[in-house]
Amino acid sequence: MWKEYEQAISEAAKFFKDRKVKPDVAVVLGTGLGSAFIDKIQIEQTIPYNQVPYFPVSTVVSHKGQWVYGTLHKKKVLVMQGRIHYYEGYSMQQVSLGIRVMKRLGVQYLLLSNAAGNLNAKWKHGELMLLNDHINLQPDNPLRGANLPSDGPRFPELSQPYSGYLNKLLRSIAAKKKLTLHQGVYAAVMGPNLETRAEYKYLHTIGADAVGMSTVPEVLIANHTGLPCCAISVLTNDANFDRPQKVEIKEIIEVAGRAEKNLTELYSDLIKRIK
Ligand code: HPA
Repeated sequence: MWKEYEQAISEAAKFFKDRKVKPDVAVVLGTGLGSAFIDKIQIEQTIPYNQVPYFPVSTVVSHKGQWVYGTLHKKKVLVMQGRIHYYEGYSMQQVSLGIRVMKRLGVQYLLLSNAAGNLNAKWKHGELMLLNDHINLQPDNPLRGANLPSDGPRFPELSQPYSGYLNKLLRSIAAKKKLTLHQGVYAAVMGPNLETRAEYKYLHTIGADAVGMSTVPEVLIANHTGLPCCAISVLTNDANFDRPQKVEIKEIIEVAGRAEKNLTELYSDLIKRIK
């Protein structure tokens, strides 16, 4: 199986190399996010996920499921428009395949985004949170199984999973543009259900500021392979610990869509400024 996985990574990477895809920066766009950022890119190629060997297909309606390659601020960017989640039934190896492939294509920075529930009473939905740490509560790990020594160490170190360099740049861009960018801890759960009130309260108690169903598998592979990364959560709904308050997925996607403009500004400017 692990030999096959190695082969899947190589073949998927070869697919892009054959198409002369040589990205400097890669971006993963999460739930409800996408078109505004894509519109900024001078697009050279779009590749549906199902054309890439071994690549899983995103089954989430709000996720497009294609690679977009092009130029933004004189840098070559490769975007996953729509991500693959563990809750869709895919293995962690499938969920994180794209990140291993990016690394082999020579990507130097990885920019992630997601929609997340807000657990911090001082913040409100519609605002953005820059991840400065995470708590992984997902039941599986993309690094489980035989280690791929060519990618990285058996026991990756995680004292700073999010790049200090990228986070510093993002904070300075947000300050300049007067955009609210909180910083906090993201808890990753499996999903696909949203949380009960007791679960939201528990996640808050253990130190999380936001909760979502993604991102951490990609961050683990980025750290394993030595690919500096950052991640921004769009806080789409405020957790209410004390009284039942229905959370609608439709609203989550709507709020994400509205916050997309700010996320796009931050990531577009970040790509301009990274060296
Ligand atoms: N919980 C988990 N994932 C989410 C949420 C939430 O409240 N909102 C958006 N993604």
